[in-house]
Amino acid sequence: MFGRVKPLDAILATAEKKSLHRSLGAFQLTMLGVGAVIGTGIFVLTAEAAQKAGPGMMISFMIAGFVCAVSALCYAEMAAMVPVSGSAYTYSYAVMGELVAWMVGWALILEYAVAAGAVSVGWSGYVVGLIENAFSINIPDLLVRGPYDGGVINLPAMLIAGLVTWLLVIGTRESASVNAILVSIKVTALTLFVILAVPVMKMENFEPFSPLGFSGIGAAAASIFFAYVGFDAVSTAAEETKNPQRNMPIGLIGSLGICTIFYLLVAAGVIGSVGAQPVMVGGVGLEPGSPELAQQCAAIADQAVVCSKEALAWTLREIGYLQIGNLIGLAAGLALPSVILMMMFGQTRIFFVMSRDGLLPEVFSKIHPRYNTPHVITIITGVFVALFAAFFPVGLLANISNSGTLFAFAAVSIAVIVIRRKEPERHRPFRTPAIYLTAPLSLAGCLYLFYKLDWKSQQLFVIWAVIGLVVYFAYSRSRSHVGRGMVEVHEDDSDIPPQPVPPIN
Ligand code: ALA
Repeated sequence: MFGRVKPLDAILATAEKKSLHRSLGAFQLTMLGVGAVIGTGIFVLTAEAAQKAGPGMMISFMIAGFVCAVSALCYAEMAAMVPVSGSAYTYSYAVMGELVAWMVGWALILEYAVAAGAVSVGWSGYVVGLIENAFSINIPDLLVRGPYDGGVINLPAMLIAGLVTWLLVIGTRESASVNAILVSIKVTALTLFVILAVPVMKMENFEPFSPLGFSGIGAAAASIFFAYVGFDAVSTAAEETKNPQRNMPIGLIGSLGICTIFYLLVAAGVIGSVGAQPVMVGGVGLEPGSPELAQQCAAIADQAVVCSKEALAWTLREIGYLQIGNLIGLAAGLALPSVILMMMFGQTRIFFVMSRDGLLPEVFSKIHPRYNTPHVITIITGVFVALFAAFFPVGLLANISNSGTLFAFAAVSIAVIVIRRKEPERHRPFRTPAIYLTAPLSLAGCLYLFYKLDWKSQQLFVIWAVIGLVVYFAYSRSRSHVGRGMVEVHEDDSDIPPQPVPPIN
């Protein structure tokens, strides 16, 4: 069952033949990572984390950041050794065989497509808040929230998902310069937030520190993990990286480090300035994104950060910076679509590679004659992302996405050890430090966070995995190119959709 392995040398030869222009350096890669990482997690899910853990969410940020850091160290060894597209899916194919690779690819659909839905909902919260506050217009909740969140349909979230799909179909790529501008906007917004919120911090707002105990802190870590997702997008640019062996680990770990520092400062700012106690009924914290919480929040006129759909803007308005609160809303409105774009791009890329390997229908890798983009799969992805965004709350989408990501990270943590043992002689430009400690820690961290996800997300993950197995045995297994003995080395770039980051001009 694990015998169908795609030989590593064939994968590497493919990458060499493709000869993409290697133009990205360590700095651009780090920027690419920060661009993909900072998004709905810190801008929106901070409120959810507070509802689960109260001020203890500081620890949640550290736990999630730690799990990502040890996973990133494992990713870095694989990404430097196998600098080709497909990230966790490709690594698993080479190391643990087709079935595991298939399951990882299948789980990555959750990571990317569902995350794109979550970020769309986050974007909607900020843009609606901005319009309402800047123009004093009251937009009915029915049209801007999903059914679990006190509304009917989230139209702005659908709209942004549709718009990003269209941009991807016509071949929009985020150029390195556009990415740099958006990263500056996000970093400036978070810096401004920290500068304004930290000085008005009151230490008593940190008490009680963990109103829902360590269980709450763990649950918040499982959700806030979403805030760190995306650094693995750096590894999808491996084929365009100069000296990937050196720059890939710097990009992966550097972007994660920068984000962690910002997240901790921002979380401290929120807690210290406006307080972050959960809304409870009878000593029990209500579930974020539930009708019960929406009801309680309505009863207190949303006067708590945990009720806000735009936590950072709300906090600034609350401490007297109305206009700057709006500016943060504007920054999120401008910058979050690029996270959606990266996620949806990542999704089409994974589908593309899986289809090229024969595991998914060939039509998925069909390229538009004029735009030169994989339009079919982009549109299918877009429709699903828009539907997720329209009807589901951001927290649930983020948790579902996390379940898929954790599975992929766990697979990479195992793969890195397996290949060390199987091929100890292979050249490793970057070696995971203390691998026999780092990789098991990463695996254990992923399992722990998965265990701390809400049961709905866990169930959905299991259902998704079972569907994946059925599809594999009913369709993919018999069509697999590796299974049919066709281990091809792709001769040129003609079947490759556009790259995430074009050469710097
Ligand atoms: N880390 C990304 C975000 O928080 C997915 O939006």
